[in-house]
Amino acid sequence: MAPMPRIVICATSWPPETTAALAAKVGAPVATEGCDYDGMLERGPDGGLQLAVRDGGRPLRVDLSSARPRADDLLVRAIGKGRGVQTVFDATAGLGRDSWTMTQAGLDVTACERLPWLAELLRDGLRRAGTEAVEVVAGEAIERLAELTSPVDAVYLDPMFAAHSKSALPKRELQLLRTLCGAGDDAGVELLDAARHSARRRVVVKRRPSAPPLGGVPASSSLQGNRVRFDLYTPLA
Ligand SMILES: C[S@@+](CC[C@H](N)C(=O)[O-])C[C@H]1O[C@@H](n2cnc3c(N)ncnc32)[C@H](O)[C@@H]1O
Repeated sequence: MAPMPRIVICATSWPPETTAALAAKVGAPVATEGCDYDGMLERGPDGGLQLAVRDGGRPLRVDLSSARPRADDLLVRAIGKGRGVQTVFDATAGLGRDSWTMTQAGLDVTACERLPWLAELLRDGLRRAGTEAVEVVAGEAIERLAELTSPVDAVYLDPMFAAHSKSALPKRELQLLRTLCGAGDDAGVELLDAARHSARRRVVVKRRPSAPPLGGVPASSSLQGNRVRFDLYTPLA
């Protein structure tokens, strides 16, 4: 398991009570003079939440305005839009691009992200994009799936790809996510199993075109694109 990144909250971006509330929410300390960190949550020039990173490059933030809605996206087809799927649990939400694509296609999406600071960036990005349609839940997806009070039609998994692969995310964002979240720690086959016990209609896993199926578990079918493959699994419930 990769070491957890050290995340701190900027001490000067907001009034003290807002800073303290954010620190409590994401479970990170407020920055102190000269403290060591990998990422600092701060208020961006437009008031949006962003994560300043140690390399001094462009901060990480959720910007859905640049994510073109693709109603005919391969993902939307894979998830089963028009085939009895309306509710989707995105178990590995990250920067929310895939959740956004599914929402734009008219699906009801719950987005789960285990890193609380990233879940907060996602909430902020969705708020700035003017949508309430995605519910964001922070925490480990296996636990959140077990807590669902009503079943979802589909569960979607997008575990972190290996370092050399292509992705829908811009290169810098992907590199930052990989550094800050760790690759290959994504609960793999256990998460797939939990998803298959929670979905009513299907589980969809995003893979590299040439990658083996997640955890070596054969899919019942696949949709192959140029840059990604979607593996489809039947429910086990
Ligand atoms: C490759 S990124 C997902 C990118 C996302 N599909 C998008 O469109 O932006 C994987 C994300 O899933 C999260 N993650 C991985 N395993 C998880 C788990 N078991 N529960 C919750 N989140 C998880 C990671 O923290 C990371 O942010």
